[in-house]
Amino acid sequence: MIPENLLAIETSCDETSAAVLVNDNEVPTLSSLVVLSQDVHKIFGGVVPELASRAHLTMIDAVVDQALQESGRTLDDVDSVAVTAGPGLLGSLLVGVCYGKALAAAGGKKIIGVNHLEGHVFAPTLEYPELEPPLVALLISGGHTMLLDVAEWGNYRLMGRTRDDAAGEAFDKVASLLELDYPGGPEVEKLAATGKDRFAFPRPMKDNGFDFSFSGLKTAVLYAVRASENLADDRADLAASFQEAAFDVLLTKTKRALKETGYSKVVLGGGVACSRTLKDRASETMKDTAELYVASPRLNTDNAAMIGRAGWFHLAAGREHGYDLDASARFPWPGLADT
Ligand code: KG4
Ligand code: ZN
Repeated sequence: MIPENLLAIETSCDETSAAVLVNDNEVPTLSSLVVLSQDVHKIFGGVVPELASRAHLTMIDAVVDQALQESGRTLDDVDSVAVTAGPGLLGSLLVGVCYGKALAAAGGKKIIGVNHLEGHVFAPTLEYPELEPPLVALLISGGHTMLLDVAEWGNYRLMGRTRDDAAGEAFDKVASLLELDYPGGPEVEKLAATGKDRFAFPRPMKDNGFDFSFSGLKTAVLYAVRASENLADDRADLAASFQEAAFDVLLTKTKRALKETGYSKVVLGGGVACSRTLKDRASETMKDTAELYVASPRLNTDNAAMIGRAGWFHLAAGREHGYDLDASARFPWPGLADT
C-alpha cells in the first residue's frame, strides 16, 4: 500500500519528533517536521533515561499536533503511522510506540515499526529523491558506528562496526575531557576549527578490515590532557588532532568499502554526519571515486522524517505491523545480514 499522508514519530532518545510525509506523484515528500530537543540533559552531561521518557510523555501530543498543523492536515487525513520501535532507550521508545499505536488503532490506520538506524540510512533520500543503491553507508551516531553494503533498499550487509565506543560517543567523551558542553560533537568541531593537528594521535585499526575502535584514541586524548602543562592553550589543538584522527579512520575504511564493493555512491548518516568538517573532508577524499550524499543537519540528527521515509518504503513493499507492535531496545533491522 502506498501511503497518501503518513505521520511519523521518533522518541528513541532525547528528541521528541513528529513529521508528515505526503505522496507527491509517487514520491514520498516531507511536508512538515518538528524536532523538540530535550535540554534538560545538558545539566547532567548526558541523557538521563527516566527524564527522557517523562519529557517525551509531556510533549508528544503538542509535537504531533504541530507537525499536523504545519502540514495543513488533520489526523483524519493520515492513513499510515510510522514509529521508531528500536533500538534506543526502552522507556522513551515506549512513549512513541504506544502513542502511535493508539492513534492508528483508534483511526483504523496502518502502523509500521521502524528500526532507527534504517531511518538514518534513508535520510538523504528526502533531499535527493533520485538517490538509489547500490551504495556504501557509514552510520555514525551517539550509539552506533556501522559500515554497510546497501545492495538495494531493504537489503543491507554489515561490513564493519565499532568494537567499543561509537564515533559520536567518542566525540562526547573527548568534549567532556576538554570541558565542553554536551552534546560534544558540535563543540569539538567548533574548537577544532581554531586548532592544529599536532598531537599525532593513534589511528586504531586504520590499516585493517572494516571494524572500528575509538576507545584507545579517547584514552590517548585523556593522557594528553593530563600531560598538558597549559590546557587552555592546548585545547584547540587537542580537539583538532582528535577530530583529524577519528575522521581519518572513518574515511579510510569507507574508501576501502567502496573498493571492495565496487560501488560509486556513499551515504554518511547519523549525528556525526552533521559535521561540516567531515563532509568537506569526505568530498575531498572521494572526489574521484564516489558521489557523496549527506542529508542536512536537521535530517541527520534524530528526527521523525527519516523514520517516516523508511516506514514508507516498507509499507509500499506491502509490510505492516499489527496493533500489538512492541518497542524493543534491540528491535531487529529488517534485511540486515551480519557477515
Ligand atoms: O544520530 P544522533 O543524533 O543520535 C543518536 O542516535 O545517537 O547522534 C548524536 C551524536 C552525538 O554523539 C553528537 O556529539 C554527535 O552526534 N554530533 C557530532 C556533531 N554533531 C553531532 N559529532 C561530531 N561533529 C559534529 N558536528
Ligand atoms: Zn540516531
